[in-house]
Amino acid sequence: MTILVTGGAGYIGTHTLIELLQAGHQVVVYDNLCNSSRIAVQRVEEITGKKVDLIQADICDRQSLDQTFSTYEIDAVIHFAGLKAVGESVEKPLTYYQNNVSGTATLCEAMSAAGVKQLVFSSSATVYGDPQSLPIREDAATGATNPYGRTKLFIEEMLRDLSISDPAWRIALLRYFNPVGAHPSGLIGEDPQGIPNNLFPYITQVAIGQRQTLSVFGDDYATIDGTGVRDYIHVVDLARGHLCALERQNSNPGLLTVNLGTGQGYSVLEMIKAFATASGCDIPYQVVARRPGDIASCYADPSLAHEELGWKAEKGLDEMCRDGWNWQSRNPHGYKPAV
Ligand code: NAD
Ligand code: UFG
Repeated sequence: MTILVTGGAGYIGTHTLIELLQAGHQVVVYDNLCNSSRIAVQRVEEITGKKVDLIQADICDRQSLDQTFSTYEIDAVIHFAGLKAVGESVEKPLTYYQNNVSGTATLCEAMSAAGVKQLVFSSSATVYGDPQSLPIREDAATGATNPYGRTKLFIEEMLRDLSISDPAWRIALLRYFNPVGAHPSGLIGEDPQGIPNNLFPYITQVAIGQRQTLSVFGDDYATIDGTGVRDYIHVVDLARGHLCALERQNSNPGLLTVNLGTGQGYSVLEMIKAFATASGCDIPYQVVARRPGDIASCYADPSLAHEELGWKAEKGLDEMCRDGWNWQSRNPHGYKPAV
């Protein structure tokens, strides 16, 4: 198949390109590079030995989308493109609604006009808000707590309506838990701009000496050690999930919503310990106040993904830490040259 990968130059996108290329698919990357680098795509070419066309354009730009669909014979779209910083979304909600929600509507219009009706969408566990019960199943109540999360919820609703309006659409809503780690080659990985918002890249930057101390946001939650618990998933496992979703769509039209998580939660302190062991580095930390909007615990019931997609996470916490450290230590400045 030929797959258009929006946001394909980003963290999860590049890892998914590798899985797609290694499975024999052709890929076309469509990315405006607002949060990524062309070098990441070149690294994918290096790893796979295959050529990747990169179109630098915006999903809000209908003309560029139409041009892309007329240049390539696209069979399906994997749609990663979006802004994802929770704090920024609180400050600039309209930017998030415009980019994520309107951008997705424009993409779907262009797909429809081109007769391409197979879509895999990057949703998030954030749509569950503060979960009532754990592990979280796909039929749990939804309700996001910030504009970023609401863009994911609104897009899910929009895509659900689209699939009702026209049964020819095949749509997978993949709700990711917390992706971490990197490709084992150490050539691609997460490259956050500025101060990382998320725990794992913050830990790796403390380990490499770029940041002095990790702030642990609260140790008074009702969890094993008082710190927040999350379902961390190796990004390569997550990437494989997209391939499984595409394969399932080939024999099943309609809309499917699935969690992609491991089912296992780890606390912040457990993460620090595991990373220190894998890297051999000290991770100095101090406990500070809770981060507003954070929840105590969040982990998936991943059984539906197993039943429907035949997919299961295979890589454990040690591998997540080892591969994350391999990427960070080989690329201390991410894709940027050393200064
Ligand atoms: P990322 O920022 O590394 O990748 C997103 C890519 O989309 C970037 O390359 C960026 O340049 C591109 N992009 C953004 N807006 C665009 C636009 N208007 N037009 C074209 N390209 C655009 O992020 P990621 O971690 O790889 O996340 C991929 C997707 O998965 C996002 O939709 C994100 O919301 C979702 N997600 C991520 C996480 C996570 O923790 N990383 C968790 C749940 C869901
Ligand atoms: N944490 C710290 N210190 C930090 C960063 C995080 O203690 O410097 C703690 C948080 O309080 C939380 C845990 O580490 O308990 C994980 O925090 P992250 O920011 O890494 O992840 P979240 O679960 O808060 O959110 C992330 C993304 C969301 C996404 C969600 C589920 O930011 O957009 O995972 O996929 F929706």
